[in-house]
Amino acid sequence: MTSLAGKAVLLIIGGGIAAYKTHELVRLLKTRGARVRVIMTRAAEEFVTPLSLASLSGEKVYTALFSLTDEVEMGHIQLSRAADLLVVAPATADLMAKMAHGLADDLASTALLATDKPVLIAPAMNVRMWQHPATQHNVEILRRHGIALVGPTDGEMACGEFGPGRMAEPGDILGAIVTMLTPKARPLAGRRVIITAGPTREPIDPVRFISNHSSGKQGYAIAEAAAELGAETVLISGPVSLPAPSGVRVVNVETAREMLTACQDEMPADIAIFTAAVADWRVASEAAEKLKKTEAGPPNLALAENPDILATIAHSGMRPSLVVGFAAETEKVTEHATQKLKRKGCDIIVANDVSEAGGVFGSDRNTVHLVTSTGIESWPEMSKQDVGRKLMERLTELLTPQQKAME
Ligand code: PMT
Repeated sequence: MTSLAGKAVLLIIGGGIAAYKTHELVRLLKTRGARVRVIMTRAAEEFVTPLSLASLSGEKVYTALFSLTDEVEMGHIQLSRAADLLVVAPATADLMAKMAHGLADDLASTALLATDKPVLIAPAMNVRMWQHPATQHNVEILRRHGIALVGPTDGEMACGEFGPGRMAEPGDILGAIVTMLTPKARPLAGRRVIITAGPTREPIDPVRFISNHSSGKQGYAIAEAAAELGAETVLISGPVSLPAPSGVRVVNVETAREMLTACQDEMPADIAIFTAAVADWRVASEAAEKLKKTEAGPPNLALAENPDILATIAHSGMRPSLVVGFAAETEKVTEHATQKLKRKGCDIIVANDVSEAGGVFGSDRNTVHLVTSTGIESWPEMSKQDVGRKLMERLTELLTPQQKAME
């Protein structure tokens, strides 16, 4: 259990139903030895009380920007500077918008604008608010400003809707805090990692396409983990609705052929990880105009095979030191993955069950099996973030001896 003794966290609580989870977060932080000071927005006081947070943190709770007593005891600038990390939980759409655009009309937003310390936010809001282009634009701005995000996760919301927008659990927020407050090892500094993610979209005509259910979550989580380990990370992504992970350069593509060209353009690399769910086929000739319904019945769509991006890169003269493929299987998962390992020429295949029972597409969790020429290693079910972190740690171990031998 990593100790946070000597570390000070300024917790800014926004006004949302998830505010009740901050009680547990404060408790967990205190258990690790951190000092926790709390600022609450006016709206947060509708959900949790300053008294309960003062009792749990053992500190005065700050609520008002223009409080003479607070300013004398500890001014709002000092409050934000005295912390090692600012954590905003729940980060509401409103608070995130203020942060993105530099508004400072209450104590919480003023402290956030005045700080020169790292900031972690745990967004929580209704799914449509999260997906609204305005919020997504603000997320992009915040990431560009170096603000870290934990969550939101998918699930049933207090408003009865389902989808992304639930605040991360206190244990996961604590994990992100520990990561941010622990000096980072950057074993992949100076290394280059290329990752493909998401689906490809193969046009039939100007309005229709062939695609699949990949959300990009697994590939984006791997890219985030690679960047955290210090790698120069390029994420070649099909169309998804995820924000760019921090420290990662995203190259957006639509079709398999565009994805292959982007991969070739981004070589050389030390590691290439092919997480994308690439369409194996495209329509042989895309219609220039929208196909019309006719009395002759449905059109006969002749298909053409797409290039195999992974196999092309793995068998090329520009092969990275480590090539990792994924295998999306609905039956005989490891058996089919073993065949793909040989056929596609990669060092590792990460196999996962994409049948309805496996439930991997779009979910926040995954159960994977690492298939290599020497055997199969099955990992327990975990979050896609943890799969990303564990996979990148493993690849770092594998890369280091290879590089050392070459140096
Ligand atoms: O995006 P999520 O919702 O998080 O879901 C994650 C995932 C299920 C998409 C991911 O974990 C996964 O399994 N990705 C691989 C999907 C796939 O296309 O598998 P495959 O078994 O059809 O292909 C095997 C490998 O060849 C893959 O690495 C694939 O990227 C690659 N491939 C396939 C076809 C092709 N034309 N070019 C390729 O490079």
